Amino acid sequence: MSRKRTAILISGRGTNMGALISAAMDPSYPAEIALVLSNRPDAKGLERAQDFGIPTAVVDHRDFSGDRQAFEKAVNDVLKELKIELVALAGFMRILTPYLVNSWNGRMINIHPALLPAFKGLATHERALEEGVKLHGATVHYVSAEMDDGPIIIQGAVPVLDEDTPDTLAARVLEVEHKIYPKALELVACGKAKVKGSRVCCGGQDEAPTDLIWP
Ligand code: GAR
Repeated sequence: MSRKRTAILISGRGTNMGALISAAMDPSYPAEIALVLSNRPDAKGLERAQDFGIPTAVVDHRDFSGDRQAFEKAVNDVLKELKIELVALAGFMRILTPYLVNSWNGRMINIHPALLPAFKGLATHERALEEGVKLHGATVHYVSAEMDDGPIIIQGAVPVLDEDTPDTLAARVLEVEHKIYPKALELVACGKAKVKGSRVCCGGQDEAPTDLIWP
């Protein structure tokens, strides 16, 4: 089976991007990372990607004077030029319009640092501590028109400890993000993560679940 040409979209440090690139270094992994694209020229992840020898591109949203669709059209042009088949958002901090979401329906995935549908948006770890939840975690999902929404592919859970601060909790969640994102991209790229209504079914009846990681 040919490996799916995948683009990773980032805005920052790119640790999830690094986890995906490392997984894709195995030639039997069903996705190859063909591009890392950032909306910020100073994103640390761009250097990391270049160190791995991955082609990079910058489409700076500030060049489009607030015209979101023109920005997304420019992103899409780069993706098409490089014959990208799958898109993985990894800390890509732009709200997407239906234009880009619909262009990649069923072929764009995102990671969010919370057990969706809880804690959409920003400051997820602070809010988890405020609410006093005992389990927190991360979710990889197909991207839909709503922010941090769409069929869930994998979730990873971590305990919330009494002495946690937002930083200690974020670090524990980030570790689980680095486990679930490569697994989710693998399931999507090999065609196992099938959307059925609002759910994603990943395995056969006799298979152990691969779409949940828990403490
Ligand atoms: C990650 O924690 C990711 O889950 C989050 O941004 C961080 C990026 O870190 N994404 C979102 O909040 C999207 N709603 P990274 O650049 O080190 O991968």
